Amino acid sequence: MSTATATPVQMVNVQIDGVWMQFPKGTRVIEACKQAAKLVPHYCYHPKLSSPGNCRMCLIEMGTPKMTPDRKPVIGADGKPEIGWIPRPQISCAQDVSEGMGVRTNSPMVQECRKGVMEFLLINHPLDCPICDQAGECKLQEFSVEHGNANSRFLERKVKKPKSVELGPRVTLDAERCILCTRCIRFMQEVAHDDVLGIVDRGSFNSIACHPDRKLDHNYSLNTVDICPVGALTSTDFRFKMRVWFLKEAATIDTNCGTGSNITVGSREGKIYRITPRENDAVNGPWMPDSHRLNFKYVADERRIAAPIVRPQLSEFAPNWQQTINLAAERLKKNAGRVAILASARATNEELFLVSRLAKAVGAVVVDVLPRTREPDGMLIASDRNPNTTGAKLLGVATGKLADIAAGIRDGRITALIALGEDATKAGLTADDLAKLDAIVAMDILPNATTAAAHVVLPASAPFEKRGSMINLKGRLQRLNKAVPAPGDAHDDWEILRDLILAVSGSNGLHSIEDVFKAMSAEVQEFAGNTLSRIGDLGLDIAAQPQNTP
Ligand code: SF4
Ligand code: FES
Repeated sequence: MSTATATPVQMVNVQIDGVWMQFPKGTRVIEACKQAAKLVPHYCYHPKLSSPGNCRMCLIEMGTPKMTPDRKPVIGADGKPEIGWIPRPQISCAQDVSEGMGVRTNSPMVQECRKGVMEFLLINHPLDCPICDQAGECKLQEFSVEHGNANSRFLERKVKKPKSVELGPRVTLDAERCILCTRCIRFMQEVAHDDVLGIVDRGSFNSIACHPDRKLDHNYSLNTVDICPVGALTSTDFRFKMRVWFLKEAATIDTNCGTGSNITVGSREGKIYRITPRENDAVNGPWMPDSHRLNFKYVADERRIAAPIVRPQLSEFAPNWQQTINLAAERLKKNAGRVAILASARATNEELFLVSRLAKAVGAVVVDVLPRTREPDGMLIASDRNPNTTGAKLLGVATGKLADIAAGIRDGRITALIALGEDATKAGLTADDLAKLDAIVAMDILPNATTAAAHVVLPASAPFEKRGSMINLKGRLQRLNKAVPAPGDAHDDWEILRDLILAVSGSNGLHSIEDVFKAMSAEVQEFAGNTLSRIGDLGLDIAAQPQNTP
């Protein structure tokens, strides 16, 4: 019998606004208040950064147990320790709970202190909310409504500080809005490990700036914009583009690499305006790289394939969807047993599951995905730039036989190619190889050498335009959600695959993506017992993977 036991978490008793509760030892007072549903307003505190305690917005009243002369707690009539309240306010962000501690989050003294702090913070703050990009998600705006004064007593001239300063290629500073909380400085020091920001000048003239001859050009620089509680740091790309309250938000995942960072896509009327990280401590914490969050413009590329293409054109009329699918199926059936499928590890599990069914239906001799490997960044960008290699392996679509496609075409064993979201010329095929094929059926979102050579092109959806699931490199099953509609006659990729299977083999009985997930979970053990909705917004660990994200 094993004698190993987990170390029990030591709990401490704390009274918050008159109610005794227990918290694990080491919990910050501000976090304990949050857990007790007593939100303490704060600016400089961020749970993932150090606590300098400089904004003073988190002031509370605090006390410790009264002690008898022989150092025993005085017990009150209610059987609980009596609290000796400290006669001045304390900050709650820089100390931990302790046994018998008392906290008042909303006493008259606390309310008075918050009013005072707000008055100081707003002394030099410009009244430019109507043109400020932070409006709608500005903590200064929110807390001044709840805790500020209705009028300013400040009659002097406000200090003017630099405006629209390009701190780096992606971040703009309006210094007069800054409340000097130092979150941005601490992020660059403690998380990005690029100590590029600091405070210059003295007193009321204090201002954030880059160190001499330096720029804020780190690939995680836009996280400073996310954590800036006011409108001092703004994204140069998003600035002045859209009011945040007009944005429709979709919780989905990043598909730029195998990390699968959790993201929120902000869109309006079908157009994506910004991507921000969504906190998930099992994946990306609250952060994400700039290069990934800005990689969404291709979705609105004017070259998007928005209608089916059939070559050579069979009539003067463009074919409709079903005619196109039937023509593709005819060509594939003609070449049955001589078909290769170039699939993509950018596809969802549901699509990859249907790829394996399509492979059976057309008698595919080779099926594989295109690998994408580059240098990892040691933070959140994995060396595998495909988001779903784990799913592709699990579903038997990543086979490591990519080279067999070119070889098979050259020796005549392969006469038809289905390219699903990948350009075959990036997988070792030449234009001559493509020209030899009797049938090329391509499904993609943008034109490339393969769609140019294809006999049938089916317009597909970008990752922001479809639902499904993917498994990251750590084996976490996560949900991809639709943020914007696909253009024109572009279809969801799983529907294209379903239609092709139906046209080739005659039956499949899949009417929704939930049906596909159900069929997949019945066949693949790792998905058993799950549904798309059960995955939730934060995902589930389903497959322990030896390969970890950096
Ligand atoms: S720029 Fe924003 S995050 Fe940086 S110190 Fe000023 S208010 Fe804080
Ligand atoms: S949040 Fe505690 S001092 Fe700023």
